[in-house]
Amino acid sequence: MELYIDTANLDEIKQAHDLGVLDGVTTNPTLIAKEGVDYGKRLADICKIVSGPVSAEVISTKFDGMMAEGESHAKIAPNIVVKLPCTVDGLKACRAMADRGVRTNLTLCFQPLQALMVAKAGAFLVSPFIGRLDDISQDGMQLIRDIRTIFDNYGLKTKILAASIRHTTHLLQCALAGADVATCPFSVIKQCMSHPLTDAGLEKFLADYKKAFG
Ligand code: G3P
Repeated sequence: MELYIDTANLDEIKQAHDLGVLDGVTTNPTLIAKEGVDYGKRLADICKIVSGPVSAEVISTKFDGMMAEGESHAKIAPNIVVKLPCTVDGLKACRAMADRGVRTNLTLCFQPLQALMVAKAGAFLVSPFIGRLDDISQDGMQLIRDIRTIFDNYGLKTKILAASIRHTTHLLQCALAGADVATCPFSVIKQCMSHPLTDAGLEKFLADYKKAFG
């Protein structure tokens, strides 16, 4: 499973990149707004750190605006992936961009038929939001499993990018369910190498070494 970081914070991106396991970055308007920086410049700065796919979301809700914004985002760097919403206009823009060779990430996916439609329209990535479904007492992980089944049934090549991941259990379940990519906050990435028995075991090894060998 590929691992992306879900942030627009350069320090977090650098730290995750330095771990040597980072495959890409997802951003959204909320994440970039939180940084209080210029939208396009921040995307360009991220692309200087990470060579894998960097998702850049449009804010237009109509086809023409999406196409114009997508074209401008795509010029920022070759690894930009244009992020479009799972709406009717987003679907049309997805097809038009695929026909022009522009990679897309169809976001805000909350039900499996949205994923089937955007895969048919040539999306590079589709982003089902797990945590936000859990928030309204639905089973977010079931959406990942359902999309996996549909894509496998028909050999659809769009990658399933599990998003809105809130904790490591989500991440583990994504890997078990066969998500192609998971995008996580930095806090979740850091926790992936953590276990109290690792810490306790290491402490004992070091104490025993010191006792015996000084
Ligand atoms: O980038 C989209 C997604 O991962 C947002 O997550 O936690 O705001 O639901 P969240």
